[in-house]
Amino acid sequence: MGESKKYGINTRALHTQKRIELPTGDVMSPIHLTTTYANSVPGESEYFYGRVSNPTREIFERTIASLEGIENYDELPALAMASGMAAISLIAELVKPDENVVISKDVYGGTTNFFATIARKRGLEVNFCDMYDKEKLESFINNKTKLVWLESPSNPNMNIYDIKSISDIVHSENALLVTDSTFCTPFITRPFEHGVDIIMHSTTKYIGGHSDTLGGAVVTNNQEIYETLYEYQKTSGGVMAPFDAYLCQRGLYTLGPRMELHSKNAHQLAEYLSKSEHIKEVKYPGLPDSPNHDIALKQMNYFGGMLSFFLEDHIDQEKYWDELHLYKLAVSLGGVETLIEVPYLMTHEKVTGLDGEVINNAFEDLIRISVGIENIEDLIEDMDSALNASKK
Ligand SMILES: Cc1ncc(COP(=O)(O)O)c(C=O)c1O
Repeated sequence: MGESKKYGINTRALHTQKRIELPTGDVMSPIHLTTTYANSVPGESEYFYGRVSNPTREIFERTIASLEGIENYDELPALAMASGMAAISLIAELVKPDENVVISKDVYGGTTNFFATIARKRGLEVNFCDMYDKEKLESFINNKTKLVWLESPSNPNMNIYDIKSISDIVHSENALLVTDSTFCTPFITRPFEHGVDIIMHSTTKYIGGHSDTLGGAVVTNNQEIYETLYEYQKTSGGVMAPFDAYLCQRGLYTLGPRMELHSKNAHQLAEYLSKSEHIKEVKYPGLPDSPNHDIALKQMNYFGGMLSFFLEDHIDQEKYWDELHLYKLAVSLGGVETLIEVPYLMTHEKVTGLDGEVINNAFEDLIRISVGIENIEDLIEDMDSALNASKK
């Protein structure tokens, strides 16, 4: 499918060109488990060793790159890693000890933790920034800034940031803008269209889509950065295993329709919650009065399957967890099933910055839902009866 750009995104999810076609004519790509490949003469083989390349990983790396808008995905495939955190670590390898990074204060707790601890111990200067504060961001960016890290919508606050205007600031120096696009996937936002240089995904979430595979992916539109990251990927070795790559590739086939349904369900649930007497506030970028709704409209095709909210004080939380049946109280997100969690207690531990500032800003009483693809009437009814049954 050399002319991939002519096809729509759902078609591209299904018809990526493989590097090799099997003589059996498999319609669906099989799982290649071999760790080594026979050479015709020493050192001459299409594939060489499983850590360096694997056809199952490769088809997934090509497809996700294609979905992010990379036309020459054979030259610029993604880099599939063993987890989202492994993908984050891979990108961080680009930064040398005399350089600095700017990380949004409003990101996944594991990302904050990685940069505040491991990256700092390696000698990187790490600055955490409120990305709404353009002056602050400008003050952090200088000729030693290697990368700036952003999530929009942010996890778990569901804040929307203007990716294009942040990329303009980042590119005023030779820095790179990275977005963690786990919440969006290419079906909602394609960050390269807004000036992003490197995209990362925790494929554990929507891409895998069924809460049964751990993985991460990095995509860049810059050949030089790709070559560097590819060297790090194969040398440091935290690659995605063939079975996970198979599941992620399979996840991509239905990602478009799933994202549409997740978003539709989340939108309806957000509307229900925003009218409920038991809810103080709902955070969902699709609600017309939500902050930066105009920016969400500009850079998102749908508003996604994630939402957060605060309960009114008259709700007994312990009772509430007991009364919910379709919402599983569990970390993670992006699977077909609905999950609910308290980020402050479960995914976003507090991290203290160098100057003593508390970096993570997950509010203590914020509740996050990853809305699944169940029938929305059932999800609303379950929520409604749990809320009504939990009044103090
Ligand atoms: C937005 C986001 N980025 C990265 C990660 C880390 O991914 P993984 O758990 O696959 O390492 C997560 C995990 O929850 C996440 O929500």
